[in-house]
Amino acid sequence: MDKQRLDKFISNQLGISRSEVRTGIKRRLASVNGEPVSDFAAQIIPGSDTVLYGGKEVCYKKFVYIMLNKPAGIICASRDKTRKTVLDLVPEKYKNRRLSAVGRLDKDTTGLLLITDDGDFAHRCISPKSNIEKCYIAELDGDIDGGVISAFENGVTLADGYVCKPARLERVGTRTARVTVTEGKYHQIKRMFGVFGLGVNRLHRESVGGLKLPADLEKGECREVANIAQTVGF
Ligand code: URA
Repeated sequence: MDKQRLDKFISNQLGISRSEVRTGIKRRLASVNGEPVSDFAAQIIPGSDTVLYGGKEVCYKKFVYIMLNKPAGIICASRDKTRKTVLDLVPEKYKNRRLSAVGRLDKDTTGLLLITDDGDFAHRCISPKSNIEKCYIAELDGDIDGGVISAFENGVTLADGYVCKPARLERVGTRTARVTVTEGKYHQIKRMFGVFGLGVNRLHRESVGGLKLPADLEKGECREVANIAQTVGF
């Protein structure tokens, strides 16, 4: 494991600014393996050395995986000067991590969004090759007939000629459907229904692989997920 500077380690793990941490270390708030340390540039081995700050252990997490119940009206981008983004909904303690959304949901789409600083995980989750199922509830402006269901099963050809991977479409109401896809092209679900003249009034993501949006996670709330790879299904 690579070494890391003490101030950087504490700052990243606790989401406290580097300057505040340095002041704290100078005031002897930090210890490493039981020894007080006042040099903020001291080198430590994350995950191996025991670091305390303000009397509490700083638990090392290389990466974090956060699920958000995305509300409508928020964009899935990194920081934006004027518009609110999903990263603005992430608690302060994660603010020194390089977080990004795993894939994109449209501004008006609600539901399960993963946010992480683990780029490899994000890539595997999004890649169509991983076959991770993303499950959505779509409210449509017209009725769903059997023809649409079998067309989804066979792979819809979008207006630009792209042939989608086979998708599952289940009717859960005359104008409401559950759609399961294993890829995530731009506006994919809306464009798939668009081929059949159907507009999507509301779109909500219920799950990503085996990870379901918990019923008790309020709109706009985040929760850290442990063992994400097993839960999602890698
Ligand atoms: N498909 C869409 O059309 N929009 C989303 O936000 C996600 C999937």
